[in-house]
Amino acid sequence: MPQTIAKASDAIEEWSDTDHRMMARALALAAKGTGQVSPGPLVGCVIMTSEGEVIGEGFYVYEEVKHAETLALEQAGGRGRGATAYVSLEPHAHFGKTPPCTDALIGAGIKRVVAPIEDPNPKVSGRGFEHLRSAGLEVSSGLMACEAKKVNEKYFHFMKTGRPFVHLKLATSLDGKIATRTGDSRWITGKESRARAHELRHEYDVILIGAGTALADNPLLTDRSGKPRRRPLVRVVLDERLQTDPDSQLVRTANEGSVLVFAGETVETGTVEALQSRGVEIVNDSYKGRDLQTVLEELGKRSFQSVLVEGGATVAGNLIDAGLVDKVTFFLAPVIIGGRDAPSAIGGQGAERLIDALELVDVEIVQRGRDIEVTGYPAKTG
Ligand SMILES: NC(=O)c1ccc[n+]([C@@H]2O[C@H](COP(=O)([O-])OP(=O)(O)OC[C@H]3O[C@@H](n4cnc5c(N)ncnc54)[C@H](OP(=O)(O)O)[C@@H]3O)[C@@H](O)[C@H]2O)c1
Repeated sequence: MPQTIAKASDAIEEWSDTDHRMMARALALAAKGTGQVSPGPLVGCVIMTSEGEVIGEGFYVYEEVKHAETLALEQAGGRGRGATAYVSLEPHAHFGKTPPCTDALIGAGIKRVVAPIEDPNPKVSGRGFEHLRSAGLEVSSGLMACEAKKVNEKYFHFMKTGRPFVHLKLATSLDGKIATRTGDSRWITGKESRARAHELRHEYDVILIGAGTALADNPLLTDRSGKPRRRPLVRVVLDERLQTDPDSQLVRTANEGSVLVFAGETVETGTVEALQSRGVEIVNDSYKGRDLQTVLEELGKRSFQSVLVEGGATVAGNLIDAGLVDKVTFFLAPVIIGGRDAPSAIGGQGAERLIDALELVDVEIVQRGRDIEVTGYPAKTG
């Protein structure tokens, strides 16, 4: 059943079932680059002849240098003339790491390009579509735009703000506790949720925790999804008083994957040196006070597109109070920990009135073994 949607230009575009299927395929291909493209975007491409035959497919991974469109055109051989290219993001028209993909599409004789959205990168935005149109190609945009934006939600956020996309992930009991009153927190959730947590780590450039969690849990914070990634997960600890244990798992493995500790300005030189000598980077000069926005800006300057925050309650609460959380996932286990002194998931100030509580939208709920995974996006206020 063809579907019509209005584009920003008010023109009415009609999409066929084939268009939908091909774009869904291009988006699935794009997602195959997960963990391998940052700080670039995920891009997938399908080339289809006018007879409906798929003759080329490709997806972008940073180290391959070639873009999705080029890979798909190569696979198509010389058969691209008159074909349609379905690309999950606007093709670029400038010389960057690679020559313009728009040139490759034009040169191959592609007749029609379907791409859901403009690339937010100012070097690309709108220019790719313009170049293709001026060369006489038919360009259609808008198809599955929401899905395309979601696939690249980290890239879009990073391009818009210069700060990484922040995803808060916590595991709680049914009564919202993240540990018992004695600090026992492993494991609240089952093995299915924990395997899923590693898949989440695979999607992110940085994993961030507070000093309280580093001390209580002595975590390793590595991506053990088994999937390929371009660069190791960077491990960050917010540690105002520099309490990180030089014998902790994090510090002992600092030479295998970066560990960054954001500390206050008045920490002991001896502790700084002990950690630095083991490969830990201490950030405390550009970082004034406990300002989380500055932490994120510093990570953005290092081209980290995304951060997964794994607690604890203080860091989670402070980030939420500061309005710096972009996505939230809770794994809820069907256990009740109880106890007034057992910590609940979110510290900080919290809401004064129910109307001020953080509401999540676009909520997705998935069963993981005996647990429930709830994911959503903070509703925009104001
Ligand atoms: N179930 C789960 O998903 C889960 C996940 C993580 C942790 N946990 C549990 O949660 C508990 C730890 O939570 P928590 O609230 O005590 O600790 P936390 O949030 O991990 O760490 C808090 C500490 O981090 C430092 N910090 C926070 N914000 C900072 C900033 N902007 N700049 C510099 N330093 C900053 C502060 O150190 P100072 O106050 O010393 O200055 C603060 O006390 C543990 O029991 C752990 O097992 C559970």
